[in-house]
Amino acid sequence: MDRNLALESVRLTEAAALSSARWMGKGDGKAADHAAVEAMRKVFDSISISGRVVIGEGERDEAPMLYIGEKVGNSDGDGPEVDIAVDPLECTNSVAYGRSNAMAVLAMAPKGDFLAAPDIYMDKIAVGPEAADVIDLALPIEENLNRVAEVKNYDISDLTVVILERERHKQLIERVRKSGARIQLITDGDVAAAIAAALPGTGIDVLVGIGGSPEGVLAAAALRCIGGEIQARLIPRNQEEIDRAKKMGVKDINKIYKCNELARGNDLMFAATGVTDGDLLNGVRYRPDGATTHSLVLRSASFTRRFIITEHYFDQEPQF
Ligand code: FBP
Repeated sequence: MDRNLALESVRLTEAAALSSARWMGKGDGKAADHAAVEAMRKVFDSISISGRVVIGEGERDEAPMLYIGEKVGNSDGDGPEVDIAVDPLECTNSVAYGRSNAMAVLAMAPKGDFLAAPDIYMDKIAVGPEAADVIDLALPIEENLNRVAEVKNYDISDLTVVILERERHKQLIERVRKSGARIQLITDGDVAAAIAAALPGTGIDVLVGIGGSPEGVLAAAALRCIGGEIQARLIPRNQEEIDRAKKMGVKDINKIYKCNELARGNDLMFAATGVTDGDLLNGVRYRPDGATTHSLVLRSASFTRRFIITEHYFDQEPQF
């Protein structure tokens, strides 16, 4: 894939962030999400790709834009054929209630390189490069944390584990507490938390727990560009979810996916722009004449990690 596409990708996430951040604190997650989707969809028309949405806003009959299978890009068939995994607004509620970790997120890969994950839950564990080879989702959480602490040369009491604050994680939280590790509970946003676990200097060592599958694939794309690891297993709640997964090509519903099975190949790109302030990125800051955005752009081919601060001037570019 043309490496300039990585910088093009950030225009997509910036547009989504600039539009949805206007809705911060207004209590209307749907409107925030709609604003992100609409803005990102518009910018896709100016990107020279032959894109196909693999992870998107849902099935065609439930999402008017960026639905699974939608063709995007303006290349008339001669741009690179790429698959798109997208979450124009990760953490809808964080925007609605002015909380942290909301981002516009997008990943690109050559055709067929993303797991076509159904929109159901997924159990996950994510770590950075040092611990990539020692984690195993099949093992008890205590064993995984001991292994991470050992390989990072930490006392387990210095390890910080991020967990989504959910009723379903009550037992998990108890067990992590008993292991001696520190816990950071988050209201939303396990994509940002997984990436933060893999980057140096964030103070986060591990993400564990059950979150969305599309978010798992997006996090995997980012971690493939950093060298971290995420392992994940689908957690269907009923037969309908099992059938949906099978329809999307999942053969073994109990399979533990490794990072390079969620996002394959070695030509992945990942871009995210902060909507609200978070562990990873600052949110959008508006000024009278424009706004400032903070983005992260990653490429697996080079392992480059770009943190991009963009000053937008609304009289010079499309209004968001
Ligand atoms: P949405 O923007 O789709 O609400 O996702 C936010 C999020 O916190 C994800 O980061 C996480 O994977 C998922 O929700 C967890 O789902 P739930 O809120 O149902 O526990």
